[in-house]
Amino acid sequence: MEERLRAVRARVRSFPDFPVPGVLFRDISPLLKDPVAFRALIDLLEDHLRTSLPPIDFIAGLDSRGFLIGPPLAQRLGVGFVPIRKKGKLPGPTESVSYTLEYGEAALEIQSDAVEPGQKVVIVDDLLATGGTMRAACELVKRLKAEILECLVIIELKFLKGVEKLESVPFFSLLQYD
Ligand code: PRP
Ligand code: MG
Repeated sequence: MEERLRAVRARVRSFPDFPVPGVLFRDISPLLKDPVAFRALIDLLEDHLRTSLPPIDFIAGLDSRGFLIGPPLAQRLGVGFVPIRKKGKLPGPTESVSYTLEYGEAALEIQSDAVEPGQKVVIVDDLLATGGTMRAACELVKRLKAEILECLVIIELKFLKGVEKLESVPFFSLLQYD
């Protein structure tokens, strides 16, 4: 494994039975706390986007942990950042999509003027579990008729098969856990 990737992986902690029994929580707090490892993370994601995708117009990030990597990554690429927020947080006209959580329902929203039809967007979050959150975000961006070049996360929980929910949308994860 590449040294930078090793440094990132070493700073993901695991907590059993959080937030509910049976869930092993992957915590990126040590990664955020270490400026060298965090720089390595953003370097790796920047390299990936620059080498694998055509030029993008915006990074869209998911409330709330997607906000930790979206803006620094957008700055590196010299593009803007668009927030996709949990219901009721964004002012003005919005699009809204409901999605299923382990317990109950939630909704994500995007401002209706956040992106123009045809603009190229990469959606970022910290982690893909069941894929419900990312799928809802894709639906929002599609409603605005923008083009999703990729959904990108730091961590993919492969055993939950969340990627299947994304259907044909291209997906990238930096770290995978079985
Ligand atoms: C977590 C995580 C992802 C999502 C993944 O967010 O940050 O956004 O769950 O789960 P899924 O693939 O099963 O949909 P959470 O909703 O806990 O909120 P937070 O980012 O505000 O902590
Ligand atoms: Mg989240």
